[in-house]
Amino acid sequence: MAGKREEARDNGRGVVISNHWPGYDLDLFTYPRHYYGDLNYVLIPHGVIVDRIEKLAKDIMNDIGYSDIMVLCVLKGGYKFCADLVEHLKNISRNSDTFISMKVDFIRLKSYQNDQSMGDMQIIGGYDLSQLAGKNVLIVEDVVGTGRTMKSLLDKIEKYKPNMIKVASLLVKRTPRSDSFRPDYTGFEIPDLFVVGYALDYNEYFRDLNHICVISEQGKAKYRV
Ligand code: IMP
Ligand code: MG
Repeated sequence: MAGKREEARDNGRGVVISNHWPGYDLDLFTYPRHYYGDLNYVLIPHGVIVDRIEKLAKDIMNDIGYSDIMVLCVLKGGYKFCADLVEHLKNISRNSDTFISMKVDFIRLKSYQNDQSMGDMQIIGGYDLSQLAGKNVLIVEDVVGTGRTMKSLLDKIEKYKPNMIKVASLLVKRTPRSDSFRPDYTGFEIPDLFVVGYALDYNEYFRDLNHICVISEQGKAKYRV
């Protein structure tokens, strides 16, 4: 048992969800009626997501407290994670002697259509990366799949010489297609499944779902473009 506990301890991979994890039956939770039939199961319930983010905020505060940081939320999928993370950072800041002075900004990237990466990452809406020069940047991302999106964003930002860049990703997928990029802070390591909910989408659907769920074949077919 001690060995098992040892494995489960935080080793930078976050909460590790195994490939055998059956998830939770959808009937055990509430979710919007318009998604009945479009999901297979709940992978991570909303409450667990928020509890895990509270600990990530504490870890971040321990590492980079006492500094000014620019939180860079990667839209659209990162907005829920970013909002809850900033909320926890604010709570710690006002209830302890450690504090972070934060600015929050948003960048929009696009790389996926249906459940496939389109390869090339694009910054949409003309975000001016030069404003990150000399700053302590905390990138907040929903999920690292192959890692290509994050690598290409980091390459672009590094050209403008920020003082520090850290990456927090709510999810990291275990996939053979991974280029082995690892965020500094990881919420959960998950199997190679396409997941939706908690702001993660499939062609813009499912952002209005609280839990992180695995989409069904019916769901994929219904919202395919
Ligand atoms: P990567 O370039 O393969 O690492 O993909 C990263 C981006 O693809 C993320 O920022 C997400 O926006 C999107 N993505 C990857 N996997 C999923 C998923 O399972 N659900 C929703 N979006 C995903
Ligand atoms: Mg994303």
